[in-house]
Amino acid sequence: MLQDKRILLIIGGGIAAYKSLDLIRRLRERGVRVRAVMTRAAAEFITPLSVASLTGEKTYTELFSLTDEAEMGHIRLSREADLVLVVPATADLMASMANGNARDLATTALLATDKPVMIAPSMNVQMWLHPATQRNLRTLEGDGVVRVGPGSGDLACGEVGDGRLADVMDIVGAVETFFSATARATDRPLTGRRALVTAGPTHEAIDPVRYIANRSSGKQGYAIAQALAALGAETTLISGPTTLPDPANVFTVRVESAREMLAACQAALPADVAVCVAAVADWRMADGSPQKIKKNGGGPPSLKLVENPDILATLSARSNDRPGLVIGFAAETQNVVAYAQAKRDKKKCDWIVANDVSPGTGIMGGDDNTVHLVTADAVEDWPPASKSAVAERLARRIADYLKEPAA
Ligand code: CTP
Repeated sequence: MLQDKRILLIIGGGIAAYKSLDLIRRLRERGVRVRAVMTRAAAEFITPLSVASLTGEKTYTELFSLTDEAEMGHIRLSREADLVLVVPATADLMASMANGNARDLATTALLATDKPVMIAPSMNVQMWLHPATQRNLRTLEGDGVVRVGPGSGDLACGEVGDGRLADVMDIVGAVETFFSATARATDRPLTGRRALVTAGPTHEAIDPVRYIANRSSGKQGYAIAQALAALGAETTLISGPTTLPDPANVFTVRVESAREMLAACQAALPADVAVCVAAVADWRMADGSPQKIKKNGGGPPSLKLVENPDILATLSARSNDRPGLVIGFAAETQNVVAYAQAKRDKKKCDWIVANDVSPGTGIMGGDDNTVHLVTADAVEDWPPASKSAVAERLARRIADYLKEPAA
């Protein structure tokens, strides 16, 4: 994963500077191209020559070096990297960074860079805990600087506590995590696609204070909307009443009843994919009472119900603007796959995600889900997973499908 990544390593002047040599080796083993800048104090602990032997490149130390500037200006040096890594980040270096000082090559490169910066602090425990250092740390984190460590333990100064440079392999791990998160953020195969998701229950009014509802929490549908948006889709979530916050980067429309949900879905078309996760109430009152129904001593009222529109079937049946991929959900308590297949045929959607919601599975309202993906010609049994993991997997499948629609 780190193959051919370029890291500008700024080596600060602390006793832990020697560990940067091992770090360079570990990064190079993973295919990273490391270019190093050393502060003058760092050169008191290790030599630019040992650093250059390990990086295989010239080590830069001076801001006003005619040769260095001619070969590689400090601006270029600070920009020709995917990540700037400061190891060890001494208290003084952190203070300079927090204040925007540019008094030597290292601090100038840190100020001139337009690339992400990661620091691995290392210093005496009192220096680390000093309010000034903690204040600088908060400033740096507010500026988007990523931090790894420090760890706790015996310090070179003889004291014990926080301030040890993070283990070299932990720094390598943090670098890997950083690059994989960046890769995920740029991996947006649904960019330019429009997605529509329904979620949550619907409430069907009996009178102004009572309604018919069900136990849907909305968690799975919200997670799917979020996962589609994370892959770049312009996503509209049509949600029945839930207690969940609007997912990030998703246009959320809140509705109450099945008929409102259908109208909001139709207004959100066209879409490349529609995922109907909502537990839509099957029935509503034939005539909702405009006033609260009173007891009146005549026994319980009988509720006359009529069927609600089927949103999934309606979207599947659209002629001109049918979404390219229409996906339904089937919550069943028995014969899960067989009922789901029958539902797929009946509602004419492309895929059905089926799950067993028998009491005891904990799926209804819970955080985990075990699903089967029923397509035209296959049934995939997915392993139990969190609702967000199921959502991410489904979003990936949708992205793959929209890339190459099945014949
Ligand atoms: N659905 C819908 N509109 C409805 C009812 C259901 O869009 N009025 C969608 C759900 O969002 C889900 C799928 O249809 O994607 C399955 O819903 P379900 O209620 O389980 O199916 P029903 O046809 O009602 O079957 P049954 O109640 O007999 O299980």
